[in-house]
Amino acid sequence: MKLTNTGFTKTGTRVKMLVTAAACTVLASAAFAADPPGWAYGFPPAGTPVAAPAPAPPTPPPPDTSMKSLPGASGQFIRAQIGDRFGPADWYPGDHPAMPDVVSHGKKPEVFACGLCHYPNGKGRPENASVNGYPVEYFIQQMNDFKNGNRKSAEPRKANTNLMMQFAKNMTDAEIKAAAEYFAAMPYTPWIKVMETATVPKTRIQGGMFLTLEGKETEPIGNRIIETPVNAEATEVLRDPHSSFIAYVPMGSVKKGEALVTKANGKTTQCAVCHGADLKGIGPVPGLAGRSPSYVFRQMNDMKQGMRKGTWTPLMKPVVESLAEDDMLAIAAYTASLKP
Ligand code: HEC
Ligand code: HEC
Repeated sequence: MKLTNTGFTKTGTRVKMLVTAAACTVLASAAFAADPPGWAYGFPPAGTPVAAPAPAPPTPPPPDTSMKSLPGASGQFIRAQIGDRFGPADWYPGDHPAMPDVVSHGKKPEVFACGLCHYPNGKGRPENASVNGYPVEYFIQQMNDFKNGNRKSAEPRKANTNLMMQFAKNMTDAEIKAAAEYFAAMPYTPWIKVMETATVPKTRIQGGMFLTLEGKETEPIGNRIIETPVNAEATEVLRDPHSSFIAYVPMGSVKKGEALVTKANGKTTQCAVCHGADLKGIGPVPGLAGRSPSYVFRQMNDMKQGMRKGTWTPLMKPVVESLAEDDMLAIAAYTASLKP
């Protein structure tokens, strides 16, 4: 039995909390045996004891109203504008064509601006998805799958995927088409650097994303991919759509993934047959090259678990059916390492 939380103090309550935590862990391992891996879904394993929240300060600090700026950006914004669900800051308007209203402002109250999470350039973040450079037909199909309840997450705590369903349900066909055409017009370009390593910086999870802790502490990577912003402040506070990501992957995983998807074996089908040469996409089938490995793993796992079961998903079913989690991890490391 392992206790993952080290946040308890050495007092009488510690013993009590440890006992409760131990009981929870036993229950958790029995009840949630098929829990999706936390590294890909951005959650600590179910049953992980949560440290009591810090007591609220007597008077909450005033909101940060200082003007923020970014290199090469002419506009300045306060934090409330950067995170505005219905009109987030557009740092680099010169980067992209004119945004359809649903991308820049969403539609109150149910639909948040797409640019908030996926960024106005569509490159997205590991806890959501890149949405640029996809075939229009594929994009529209996904929105309809979300709308019809055929695209869910294997991790029910993943609230932002549930939000995608809410957005899709409240969008018109015309709005979906406008968003699809807008993002399709921008090619997906390199955004995530894949690095094989035995150890990773220690991280904490915030809003589904892994952020490295201050200080230089490291830990073994284990059977995980840790995808994290190159600059946590730029990504998390400023939502800088130019600030990219790094994906730490286990030693040897890229080669293992390559062998799995390019050589005949009993486990899976060669991806290039449908996803095109170099996995850059072909016809309505989406590209995989250089896209977020946590995202790619999640999708394969969601399909395997039957949580993603859209109109076109049956084509992927035989691909994922016999793959173990470690295989999917290696495949995701490999696809992410390819040049988009
Ligand atoms: C609150 C954050 C958030 C906002 C706002 C948001 N999305 Fe998403 N989007 C997500 C998440 C999370 C996923 C799926 C990630 C998962 O399940 O692994 C996703 C996935 C998608 C996908 C599927 C991509 C693929 O590769 O199949 C599309 C398409 C998409 N979003 C379009 C949109 C559009 C259009 C809007 C604006 C109307 C929008 N999103 C707004 C969070 C968001
Ligand atoms: C027989 C054709 C076919 C083969 C072979 C195939 N795929 Fe797919 N793949 C698809 C289709 C079609 C979709 C869209 C599925 C949907 O709409 O749900 C897809 C979707 C995906 C997605 C989700 C993409 C996204 O943006 O959400 C991933 C990840 C993926 N495939 C990985 C792979 C990998 C890895 C392989 C090889 C091991 C592979 N596929 C082999 C047809 C195929």
